[in-house]
Amino acid sequence: MKLLSVLSLFAAATISAATPIELIYGNETLNRPLIHLTPNYGWMNDPNGLWYDAKEELWHVYYQYNPNDTVWGLPLYWGHATSKNLTTWTQHDVSIIPPADDSGAYSGSIVVDQNNTSGFFTNVTDPRQRVVAIWTYNTPESETQYVSYSTDGGFTFTNYDQGNPVLDLNSTQFRDPKVFWHEESQKWILTVAKTQQFKIAIYSSPNLTTWTHESDFEREGYLGYQYECPGLVKLPLPQNTTTTTEETIQTYSNGTLVSNTSVAADTDKWAFFISINPGSIQGGSSTQYFIGDFNGTHFVPDYPNTNVIDLGKDYYAMQTFFNSPDGDIYSIGWASNWQYSAYVPTDPWRSSMSLVRKFSLEEFQANPETKILNIKSTPVIDYDVLNFGENFTYHNETLNTNSSVHYDLAKNFDGLVEFNLTFTANSSAYGNHDFAGLSLYLRGDQDKNEYLRLGFGANAAAFYIDRGNTAVPFVSENPFFTDKVSVNNQPSEYVTNEITKYKVYGIADRNILELYFNDGSQVSTNTYFFTGGNFIGQADIEVATDGVFEIEDFQIRQMTLKL
Ligand code: FRU
Repeated sequence: MKLLSVLSLFAAATISAATPIELIYGNETLNRPLIHLTPNYGWMNDPNGLWYDAKEELWHVYYQYNPNDTVWGLPLYWGHATSKNLTTWTQHDVSIIPPADDSGAYSGSIVVDQNNTSGFFTNVTDPRQRVVAIWTYNTPESETQYVSYSTDGGFTFTNYDQGNPVLDLNSTQFRDPKVFWHEESQKWILTVAKTQQFKIAIYSSPNLTTWTHESDFEREGYLGYQYECPGLVKLPLPQNTTTTTEETIQTYSNGTLVSNTSVAADTDKWAFFISINPGSIQGGSSTQYFIGDFNGTHFVPDYPNTNVIDLGKDYYAMQTFFNSPDGDIYSIGWASNWQYSAYVPTDPWRSSMSLVRKFSLEEFQANPETKILNIKSTPVIDYDVLNFGENFTYHNETLNTNSSVHYDLAKNFDGLVEFNLTFTANSSAYGNHDFAGLSLYLRGDQDKNEYLRLGFGANAAAFYIDRGNTAVPFVSENPFFTDKVSVNNQPSEYVTNEITKYKVYGIADRNILELYFNDGSQVSTNTYFFTGGNFIGQADIEVATDGVFEIEDFQIRQMTLKL
């Protein structure tokens, strides 16, 4: 994919802002992320309608938006932002507008109806911009699925009044339609949650307006309180995959085996995503997925094993883009958690999205004996739109007990920092009673007592993120804003019986930290809140009383937007 280096600053939206909200906890408004999408003002939750306009070479992101307050509330709109580079975002006017004040244009998706299967378009609309949105119309009485279309490249929408709702089950718990084109059956496929029955209904359609129920995928994985925001995507299997070998099809007649045929192993697999809230393993909201096969009507998981796409506290309602230029799967999650999203100390906006991530399948060494298919996440950042501070590096050095490395980064930089850390832990250097720990501290440049700590406990073979060291009252006052979040991490390599290697890439953007372990085999996204303007300006790696670690590679640099 050719990413253009165009920088777009946040344009002012034109709907009138709600009464300005007073800053509650000081100047945290300064800490608005630079390369994570946030609304200019108001409340944002789930990403919606992600699609790529091949004519304008423009990525569109819509989102659940309440422009009138910094908490969720009705009427709920689809906010809208675009990007040329998936790194900087331009805000636009709201796009889908709920028909009544006590209603909501709830989550949904967008497809490009190139061949005009819906009949909504004339030749005037470029096939690459035949935009159809499918979303949930929420009223106090029901949740039904609505279709709207756009002939101006996704900026304004017309509701399909003759046919809406296109799906109505007489239910108040039926939402979040995600549609894609299924090449094999030459049909549109829609997945939608019957939330409190723990079912994801699968429908098919030739034209996006008449839908046939095909099956329900139900009661799989973590249930929590309810299912939300489903999605189904095809991903190529990695080359030389050993986890799915040849399949054998056995045919029986009257109980006797009559044929035993081997068929070639698949070249693709399907990933089924389901978000649950509340009741996730991290607490509150998170997104799980299953790997399996989809035949146009049914999804069958390979194994009854559940994976969680991001192990942090702040990643929910993940959705993938329709129609990427290179055919790869790109995604965005809402970087918050319903447990505390309404209270986070940002103003005059609330919530941000994650970075865009590219998904690929990999064979993941779950333990020394077993490999499983896993989705690997790679952050998409266009470095052409960024300027960089000094690159601090540290290579092939041993850090013994009570030793440390210290870096003064530039003061008054912009709060956008990335680092790579690869190290080995030597288990012959510590005993079972020891807490053999290595920590990377990222400290504020104005107030060093505010810091993030990425710790590693060798005996637990786990990382943790400590986001609790700040003067911002919300952090200590909100009991759900867990100050320490752990990630049980597989080594990137078993070097010897005693030596294991760990690898992590991290990016901190003013109030959100994304950690990618082992090149994205596992990810943990967590928000954090420092006093306004106290941006990261110091990094320390410290080894406590027990343990010996070899730092194979450490690099850290500050970044800012080119203006
Ligand atoms: C998930 C969700 C969706 C719903 C939307 C409403 O976060 O509850 O199920 O469509 O948010 O804003």
